Amino acid sequence: MDDLNSLVEKYVKKVLFTEEEIQLRVAEISERINEDYTGLEPVIIAVLKGSLYFVSDLTRQLNIPLSLDFMAIESYGPQPSSSGAVKLLKDLDQPIEGRDIIIVEDIIDTGLTLSYLIRNLKARNPRSIRVCTLLDKSVRRLVPIEITYKGFEVPDVFVVGYGLDFEQKFRNLPYIGVLDIDRAVEDFYE
Ligand code: IMP
Repeated sequence: MDDLNSLVEKYVKKVLFTEEEIQLRVAEISERINEDYTGLEPVIIAVLKGSLYFVSDLTRQLNIPLSLDFMAIESYGPQPSSSGAVKLLKDLDQPIEGRDIIIVEDIIDTGLTLSYLIRNLKARNPRSIRVCTLLDKSVRRLVPIEITYKGFEVPDVFVVGYGLDFEQKFRNLPYIGVLDIDRAVEDFYE
């Protein structure tokens, strides 16, 4: 089995955001959330697994009281369907009625997953819902999503690292890199 370094050498074409750049941006976003939520106690909802490191770094720099909860979802089929229907693998532990929600995502691509999630959460009558995403691949958007906190815009490439995976690999890289998706698909699915 290839070790992580050999996988990186083979499939990661270039570093898009270094560990330092990510940490600086996360600190800036935390500062804004600290200001916007002074006196409030939001529920931070992280969407597993991709937002694992982002939510962990982000929340440790928040100086407001908060609850942390997780949702895990899976798109039906290999591609998200046009309805954005996703299967809920893990639901929230707590009710969110009347609460201020911040959804923390790793990346918003077509927006289908998140629009489903927002609809699902709105039905539980929270006081407010805002979206915080580390990466925004807005060129691929199919449904409009209002993003309040955003780390970086990314072009139409497949990115891995800092939580983002390809076939469960590359998540634990501390930086974000561009995957050679053609080569990876060819080798992994041959
Ligand atoms: P959407 O419903 O198309 O917005 O899909 C969002 C989900 O697709 C993200 O939460 C990721 O799990 C996955 N995804 C989209 N683009 C990438 C990428 O470049 N790298 C890794 N995962 C991605």
